Amino acid sequence: MQNIVVLISGGGSNMVAIAQAAEREQWQARFDARIACVISNRAQAAGLAKAADLGLTTQLIDHTLYQKHSHPREAFDSALMQAIDVYQPSWVVLAGFMRILTPGFVVHYQGRLLNIHPSLLPAFPGLHTHQRAIDAGCRFAGATVHQVTVDLDDGPILAQAVVPVLPDDSADTLAARVLTQEHLIYPRVLAQLLSRQP
Ligand code: GRF
Repeated sequence: MQNIVVLISGGGSNMVAIAQAAEREQWQARFDARIACVISNRAQAAGLAKAADLGLTTQLIDHTLYQKHSHPREAFDSALMQAIDVYQPSWVVLAGFMRILTPGFVVHYQGRLLNIHPSLLPAFPGLHTHQRAIDAGCRFAGATVHQVTVDLDDGPILAQAVVPVLPDDSADTLAARVLTQEHLIYPRVLAQLLSRQP
């Protein structure tokens, strides 16, 4: 069994796209793969309800509960690791998970930790990628699926999708155009990786 654990913080549209692809493409039958759990660090994440509606197991690990800890990031990541490791996942999929992860976490899942970032990396790591692409006068923008390494939005690139930046674009219109492509490339990369596993 290849377990996939998906981490979200917000709308969860990438998670939904992956779950729908898994259904449509019969990942369970073809790859012995399933989304074992969707974990959010935010109680208000709309993606949690969407995951539950899809019949997926969900879990909340609220990062604010760790803020008073002497090492809040380490404490949160350690709780997150414990929750994830219950499933012995083949793949840990960051899908709009808006947390910077500690090196200990990244190293623990090295080689099976994936992220999607809404820019054509290595351009525009970090936040506000769409506005930055517009401000820089880019004619093209896009998204990148990559392996996660200890450096933020770095790591081997597995797939990219390109969209045009149109003259009247706002960050929102560009983000929406990029997101439609994210929903295509993230499930595609996962299916490819799952098909290679024994
Ligand atoms: C996506 O653009 C993702 O690349 C970025 O945050 C957004 C999350 O969207 N990191 P969703 O939660 O998958 O709808």
